[in-house]
Amino acid sequence: MPLILETIVTTLSQEGGVHLVPFGLIREGDDYVLAPFRPSPTILNLDANPCFCASSPRDVRVIAGAVTGRRAWAVVDCDRIRGKRLADSFGHAEFAVAAVEDDPTRPRYRGRMVHSAAHAPFIGYNRAQAAVLEAAILATRLHRLAPDKILAEMRYLAIAISKTAGPREREAWDWIEDKVAAHLGTDARILAAADAA
Ligand SMILES: Cc1cc2nc3c(=O)[nH]c(=O)nc-3n(C[C@H](O)[C@H](O)[C@H](O)COP(=O)(O)O)c2cc1C
Repeated sequence: MPLILETIVTTLSQEGGVHLVPFGLIREGDDYVLAPFRPSPTILNLDANPCFCASSPRDVRVIAGAVTGRRAWAVVDCDRIRGKRLADSFGHAEFAVAAVEDDPTRPRYRGRMVHSAAHAPFIGYNRAQAAVLEAAILATRLHRLAPDKILAEMRYLAIAISKTAGPREREAWDWIEDKVAAHLGTDARILAAADAA
């Protein structure tokens, strides 16, 4: 299996509008491949402006927010490409699209790194942050997964949230629980139900 880095990818539309989404970047040699499923605003943006930026957020609410309709996170100009990066990140990398493999389902954009920078010290992982990341991925696959599988995974991830979440991770989790409950019904609430009991 290739290395896949889970990042916040930002692209720009022709008019300059920022589109901010979590994506897994697939490492291939020195390059990183971005593979969005169609249809996707990211694809439209890459075709109009063939470069993208990947940021590692310090606040996992950015990841949970981006998959629950909350995309207005602060961005600043990139250094080497026409693009924006997340303002609050451990670091970021800027990519120019070096090749495109078109595909009716999932085109692949090969990104060549033209710049990278660190912005804050990274001194360790937190289980609740990892759980929010996994739950956010689940939240983008609700229509493709069986309800039992979604619930089983959410129940497991909730353990790390209840033991190690700070206020930001808990808020991020609640946004995801809301989305899962909107899809599966209020019985799908795990921590919100425990709080109410
Ligand atoms: C951590 C994480 C990684 C993701 N990786 C991908 C990916 O590699 N390709 C993809 O199409 N969607 C991926 N998704 C789902 C997209 O973020 C989501 O469907 C998004 O709305 C698609 O972007 P778009 O708005 O440009 O269509 C990922 C979600 C998360 C939370």
